[in-house]
Amino acid sequence: MMGLLGRLLMFNTKTEREIQLIKESALIVGKTLAEVAKVLRPGISTKELDVVAEKYIRSCDAIPACKGYYGFPATLCISVNDVVVHGIPGDYKIKDGDIVSVDCVVLKNGYHGDYAYTFMVGNVAEDVQLLVKRTKESLYKGIEAAVCGNRVGDIGYAIQTYVEGFGYSVVRELTGHGIGKSMHEKPSVTNYGQRGTGSKLNDGMVICIEPMINLGARYVDFDEKDGWTVRTQDRKPSAHFEHQVVIRKTGTEVVSTYEFLEKEIEKNNWIS
Ligand code: MF3
Ligand code: CO
Repeated sequence: MMGLLGRLLMFNTKTEREIQLIKESALIVGKTLAEVAKVLRPGISTKELDVVAEKYIRSCDAIPACKGYYGFPATLCISVNDVVVHGIPGDYKIKDGDIVSVDCVVLKNGYHGDYAYTFMVGNVAEDVQLLVKRTKESLYKGIEAAVCGNRVGDIGYAIQTYVEGFGYSVVRELTGHGIGKSMHEKPSVTNYGQRGTGSKLNDGMVICIEPMINLGARYVDFDEKDGWTVRTQDRKPSAHFEHQVVIRKTGTEVVSTYEFLEKEIEKNNWIS
């Protein structure tokens, strides 16, 4: 049997109790994203969306974990169009035709929930709609490859081959990650890679898989003024979806859920 030291230092695996706590945080993320989906429409500012999320998270006696994380100033990362990830909520008002990645991290009972969804607002250009749809599909390809005993490279390979088949490109500078007491733990989960390479996926590991896929070239810029915003260098759109999963020898379990936000999408005619 694996000792505590092995669990903590070598394999980054979690106990059932820890997984229960992670699930509790993940559920709050799912409901927070639903609160955002309720009010998302043209004219609303990204700051207003952030306020909705923070209020909801605090009402659950949970902590918005991004706020203050290495100085990040908000609850949500809201990344519109050519912003890949880590957009800072502010005065920008959502427009008809925007794609909006909303990434939310919640801390409760010492454990993190973290995932993201890219919403389409109003009439999105057809090629961009396809980008969003296929980025989401690539996340599920990654999850299918996230089998106990496989390696991280198998996940990256599945995502990369799927999206490159459509002529899209994979951002390399940012990756998925292990998660638990810390928001970012080992292993790093790249969205590109080779089969059979990288860290082994072990029973009880909790990881976030989060493809960031560009319509154009893969290169990105890091905003020097705000220190956070990541944009595509060619300013073409980028989509981002994230799920949080537990690797189990009995089958990988997705602990994140889009169920609540999808119900809101059905009711809100502005978004899809
Ligand atoms: N959810 C992001 C991630 O997957 C957010 C972290 S950025 C920060 O890693 F805002 F928290 F800093
Ligand atoms: Co993440």
